[in-house]
Amino acid sequence: METAKKQGRYERIILQLEELLTKTSDPVARMATIAAVLSHKFDYYFWCGFYRIMGDQLIVGPYQGPVACQVLKGGGVCLTCVRENRSIVVEDVHKFPGHIACDSRSNSEIVVPVYDRDRRLMAVLDVDSTALGSFDDTDSIFLEKIATLVYREV
Ligand code: SME
Repeated sequence: METAKKQGRYERIILQLEELLTKTSDPVARMATIAAVLSHKFDYYFWCGFYRIMGDQLIVGPYQGPVACQVLKGGGVCLTCVRENRSIVVEDVHKFPGHIACDSRSNSEIVVPVYDRDRRLMAVLDVDSTALGSFDDTDSIFLEKIATLVYREV
C-alpha cells in the first residue's frame, strides 16, 4: 500500500480508536477492540492480535484471524521484540531465525511492544501478512501509537 494512503488510514483509525476506547480501561476489552478495528481496515492484515507476557512465555490475547499458537516460548519474532524491547519488522519470516509459524500462509510480520502507564512491558501487538514485505516504518510508527492506547488513562 502507498505510504500516504497507509498513513491517512492509520490516522483515521487512531481517531476512531480514541473514541471507542473511552468506555472502559480494561486492557483485554481494549486489545479486542484494537484487533477488530485494525483487521477490518487493512486488506494486507492476515492475522492481528496480542500476546501477553507471562514469565518467560507469551500467552495469546485477543486477536482476529486464523487460530494461532496459544503459547510462545524459546524464540520467535514476538519474544525477540520482548527481549530487545523494540519493534521488529520482518520482511520475510522464512529468513528470521527461530520464527514460529502458527500459520504457514504468513510471510511477513511486525511486532511492537505494549507498555503500561509505568512503562512496564506487558504485551506485544503482532500483525502477520501473507505477502512478503508488507510492513515498514509507517506501520511501526502507527502501531506503536496504537499500542499506547491499551493502557491509556480514560
Ligand atoms: N510468528 C510469531 C508467532 C505468532 S503468530 O505470528 C500469530 C513469532 O515468531 O513469534
